[in-house]
Amino acid sequence: MISIDEFLDELQRLQTDAETAFGAATSDDVLEAARIEFLGAKSGRFKAVQKQLGQISGADKPVAGQNLNRVKNAIQEAFDSAKSRSSSQSMRGELDPQFDRTLPGANVKVGRVHPITQTIEELIDIMGRLGFSPVFGPEVEDERHNFEALNIPDDHPARDPLENFYLSVAGKQGSGDKLLRSQTSTVQIRTMETTQPPIRVISLGRVYRPDTADPTHYPMFHQMEGLMVDRGVTLATLKTVLQLFATNYLGSSVPIRIRPSFFPFTEPSVEADYFWNGRWVEFGGAGIVDPNVFRAVGYDPDEFTGFAFGLGVERLCMIRHGITDIRDMYTNDVRFLRQF
Ligand code: PHE
Repeated sequence: MISIDEFLDELQRLQTDAETAFGAATSDDVLEAARIEFLGAKSGRFKAVQKQLGQISGADKPVAGQNLNRVKNAIQEAFDSAKSRSSSQSMRGELDPQFDRTLPGANVKVGRVHPITQTIEELIDIMGRLGFSPVFGPEVEDERHNFEALNIPDDHPARDPLENFYLSVAGKQGSGDKLLRSQTSTVQIRTMETTQPPIRVISLGRVYRPDTADPTHYPMFHQMEGLMVDRGVTLATLKTVLQLFATNYLGSSVPIRIRPSFFPFTEPSVEADYFWNGRWVEFGGAGIVDPNVFRAVGYDPDEFTGFAFGLGVERLCMIRHGITDIRDMYTNDVRFLRQF
C-alpha cells in the first residue's frame, strides 16, 4: 500500500519536473525527448505514477484520482505551450545556438529603374492621357518596314550600308537584308498593316545607327514614335498634340514651334522644337503621313489623313535632368544611376 500523502508528493514532484523540463527545452529534439520521458505511453513517468493508483486505499482513491487528472492536464498544457513556442521560435531561428541575433542584418542593396525606362514610363503615361496606346515592334527589321513601305527608295542615302547596321556580311542595300532598325517609324507600318483607322499609337524602343559616340550621339538610342490616322487629321492636330505633350512633360510655360523639313514618309514634313533654357531645342521630326505610305499598307489616302512624329527619348530625359553626356546613361556607373 502507498499512503495518500506519499502519492500526492510523488504527483507534485512529477508536475514540477515535467514543467521544468518542457519549459527549458531548447530544441524540438530535446522537447520530444522530454515528452517521451514524462508522457510516454509505455514507460513514461506519468504512466508509472498512474499505476500506483491501484495501491491506494479505497477511501483515498477519489482524492488520488482527482489529483492524478489535474496533474495530467497540467503536464499536457506545459507540453503544448512548449511545442507552440518552439515551432514559432524555430521558424525565426531563435532556437538555433549558431544564430546571433545581435549581428547587423545583411544589407540588401535597393536597385532603381534606369532613367531611360523611367522616362519611357512617363511618356507612355502622358500620351495615354491623350488617347495614344503603346505598341512595340522588333529591333531586327527587314527593308520593307525600315525603308520601302516608308517611301524610302533603294538609292536613298539613308539606306547606305555606312548609315545602317545590316546583319549580313555582304551588307548590301536592296538585297532583302535584315538590319537593326534605324528608326521606330517601322512600327507605323507594322501597326497599319494589321489595324484599320482610326489609329492613335505610340511606339517606344531602341534604334541603331553607326554613329561615333560623343556627348550627344550613341550608336543605340531610343525613340518615341507617334502615329495618328483618322478622317480630317491636319498639321494643326499634330501641333496641338506636340504642344500638349511638351506642356505635360516639360511644363506649362514651354512653347513649341515647327519649321519645314523633309522626310520621305511625311508630306509636308517638319522639325519640332521646344523653347528650353532660353533657346530652341530640336526634339524630333514629324509631318503629315505621305499618301505613298498609306498606299503601301492598303489605306485609301483620299479617305484618311494622319500625322507621325519621332522624338528622341534620351534628349527628353537629359533636358529634364540636366544630363550633359549621353554616354553616362550607358556606362552603368551606379554613382550616376542612383541619382534618378
Ligand atoms: N523617323 C524619323 C527619324 O528617325 C523621325 C520622324 C518620325 C519623322 C515620324 C517624321 C515622322 O529621324
